[in-house]
Amino acid sequence: MPPIFPEFPVRLSATATALILAAGLAGCGGGAPAPPERSPEELKAAQAALPAPYSTADLENGRALFRQCRSCHTVTAGGANLTGPNLHGVVGRPAGALPGYAYSAPMRQAGLVWEPAKLDAYLAEPRAVVPGTKMSFVGLKAAQERIDVIAYLMLESPPAP
Ligand code: HEC
Repeated sequence: MPPIFPEFPVRLSATATALILAAGLAGCGGGAPAPPERSPEELKAAQAALPAPYSTADLENGRALFRQCRSCHTVTAGGANLTGPNLHGVVGRPAGALPGYAYSAPMRQAGLVWEPAKLDAYLAEPRAVVPGTKMSFVGLKAAQERIDVIAYLMLESPPAP
């Protein structure tokens, strides 16, 4: 066998360093809240552009309520899959479609898109919308709480460009 390109190990180690850096950055997303990407004014403008009732939702309450989801979900771009899949950009995403996460068969085959009304019904009672889902979450019973969390997901989790 001829020797492998001499520069190969050098390139590999540069790639490895980049990967380690990326992994380190992604790792930060799980615990501490992500640094704000938008100024309060920008966030306000972005919220005003959402459809009702999300345009007037209580985002701070949505953020607080999302703590109930954090034991199983990250929401930052490229965040880890935990017990549940990363939820970055979930609003508008087809159900069961995030590559690299092992969904239940019912979720994979649900044939749904997480548009706001569907997400609302799912968060109220997950097993009523996707019978057999492995998301063991009792549900958010108050309509206003679901509105606040969905608005939070819409704004904190814009689809990747
Ligand atoms: C006890 C863990 C747990 C909690 C708490 C939890 N989830 Fe989940 N979630 C899951 C699991 C597991 C799945 C994957 C379900 C499947 O494959 O059947 C999931 C799936 C989802 C999905 C579908 C994602 C997709 O890509 O199709 C959404 C949306 C979701 N969860 C939102 C939430 C929100 C919002 C909360 C908080 C209000 C929450 N979840 C709380 C475990 C959890």
